[in-house]
Amino acid sequence: MSDNPGTAALARMLAEAKRVVVFTGAGISTESGIPDFRSPGGIWTQMAPIYFDEFLASEEARRETWRRRFVMEDTFKAAEPNRGHRAVDALVRRGKVAAVITQNIDGLHQASGIPPEKVIELHGNTTYATCLDCGQRYEIADLRAIFEKTGAVPPCSECLGHVKTATVSFGQSMPVLAMQRAEQETRAADLFIVLGSSLVVYPAAGFPQLAKHNGAKLVIVNREPTPLDQMADLVLHEAIGDTMGAAVGVN
Ligand code: APR
Ligand code: ZN
Repeated sequence: MSDNPGTAALARMLAEAKRVVVFTGAGISTESGIPDFRSPGGIWTQMAPIYFDEFLASEEARRETWRRRFVMEDTFKAAEPNRGHRAVDALVRRGKVAAVITQNIDGLHQASGIPPEKVIELHGNTTYATCLDCGQRYEIADLRAIFEKTGAVPPCSECLGHVKTATVSFGQSMPVLAMQRAEQETRAADLFIVLGSSLVVYPAAGFPQLAKHNGAKLVIVNREPTPLDQMADLVLHEAIGDTMGAAVGVN
C-alpha cells in the first residue's frame, strides 16, 4: 500500500465502495504520449478548435480537420495503455467499476482490456470514420492514403455526404445513447472518480456534479486544480499513473 496519505485514502474509498464509475479525460492518456488539450503545450494552446458548422460549411475547414487528424495518426498508433489505464482495467476486472465514462477518443480504455460495452464514449472515437449522412464506415488508413495523394478526403462513395471521424466536435450533438447510459451509471454509483479532466466542457462535466448531488462520493485526480475541486470528497493534484497504480496495486 502506498505511504502517500492521499493515495491511501483513495484506496480506502475504493475498498468501501460498492459501485464505482470512473470518468476520464485527456489527462489519463498523456502518459501514453497523447497530448491533452488545455495543459501548457496542449492542443488548444496550439490551434483553435474547428466547430461542427464550419466543418459542414467549408471545404477548407474539412481539409484542415483531416490534416490535423492525419498528423496525429502516428501518435495514436504508437500510444499504448499506461499504468493509469491498467489500474482502471484492474478495477473493472475486480467488479468494482461498473462503467468507464470517457471524454477521450483514443480507444485506450478498450485497448487496456476493458470490454467495449463498459466504456461509454461521450465524444465518440477517432479510430474510424463515418459518413455523416448515411453512416457508411471508413477506415482511417484508407482515407489517409487518398488524402496524401489528393490533399482531401472525398465525399461518401455511397451518397456524397461528408466523411468525418466518429468523434463529436464542438457544436455537434452528443450521442444520445451514450448520454443516457452515462446518466444511468452516474446515478447508480456510490463512488465517482474523475481522472485527468479540466472539467470545463459540458455536458460531460455535469456528470461528476450529478454523482455528488445524487449522494455518491466524488474523487478528482488531476494535476491542475479544477472548478469542481471544492465539491469533491478527495482531490489529488498528482500524476494519474502512479496515484491510481499505487491505490489499486498495479504496475
Ligand atoms: N496526471 C494527472 N493529470 C493530468 C495528467 C497526468 N499524467 N496529464 C494531464 N493532466 C491533467 C491536466 O492538468 C488537465 O487539467 O488533465 C487535464 C486535461 O484537461 P483537458 O486538456 O482540458 O482535457 P479534457 O478535460 O479531457 O477536455 C475535455 O474538451 O476539447 C474537448 O473534446 C475535447 O474531450 C475533450 C474535452
Ligand atoms: Zn454516405
